[in-house]
Amino acid sequence: MKGHYFLVAFAFLALTSSLASAYDPSPLQDICVAINDTKTGIFVNGKFCKDPKLATAEDFFFSGLNVPRNTTNPVGSVVTPVNVDQIPGLNTLGISLVRIDYAPNGGLNPPHTHPRGTEILVVLEGALYVGFVTSNPDNRLISKVLYPGDVFVFPIGLIHFQQNVGKTNAAAFAGLSSQNPGVITIANAVFGSNPPINPDVLTRAFQLDNNVVKYLQSRFWWKNN
Ligand SMILES: *[C@@H]1O[C@H](CO)[C@@H](O)[C@H](O)[C@H]1NC(C)=O
Ligand SMILES: *[C@@H]1O[C@H](CO)[C@@H](O)[C@H](O)[C@H]1NC(C)=O
Repeated sequence: MKGHYFLVAFAFLALTSSLASAYDPSPLQDICVAINDTKTGIFVNGKFCKDPKLATAEDFFFSGLNVPRNTTNPVGSVVTPVNVDQIPGLNTLGISLVRIDYAPNGGLNPPHTHPRGTEILVVLEGALYVGFVTSNPDNRLISKVLYPGDVFVFPIGLIHFQQNVGKTNAAAFAGLSSQNPGVITIANAVFGSNPPINPDVLTRAFQLDNNVVKYLQSRFWWKNN
């Protein structure tokens, strides 16, 4: 009888661990160019695939990532994503890219997480104070100041940020281990949700005065991506 329970528990663990590691699947074919209209496609996991015979170079191409973008906004940064929505040929391949521009003197990519991807960032220009925080109970901050050519990794799911600590523009590129890594910007999700979270919840969670919570919820939370 005990053996049975063990087997059931083992099977359950095996099932849940395989589900837990089921981020972007490994490709099951050479190419799978994403399309939104299912009528002309072949179904696999991820998005629908175009008939491979109809794939073109344009399906695997994006241009303009050399161009800095305007960082004049409340947080002083802008993220240019290059994921499966920009390059449909990334479908099922488990990888994507971003360019991030930061305004001088404090331009910030605010604390956020990518629910589906680890990130590896390389600094192109400027000086960035970067960091991530490990999960409970330690909540250890692992941080560093980076300069051009420096590379830093933000593990999947962990809250992280980058701030320009120089007097000039800063820019970085980052690869992410998902065709669609997703972004949850902490302040926006918590104080800018739609509809708003009951202020009593946030008053207790953040140990704040109820009016401070209402003030924060009334603010406009800029999305930099
Ligand atoms: C599919 O839909 C997404 C989201 O609406 C859009 O960004 C993308 O350009 C579309 N892709 C194609 C190949 O039509
Ligand atoms: C950048 O954006 C700001 C705010 O929208 C605007 O006032 C400014 O003219 C823009 N700068 C450039 C160089 O486009």
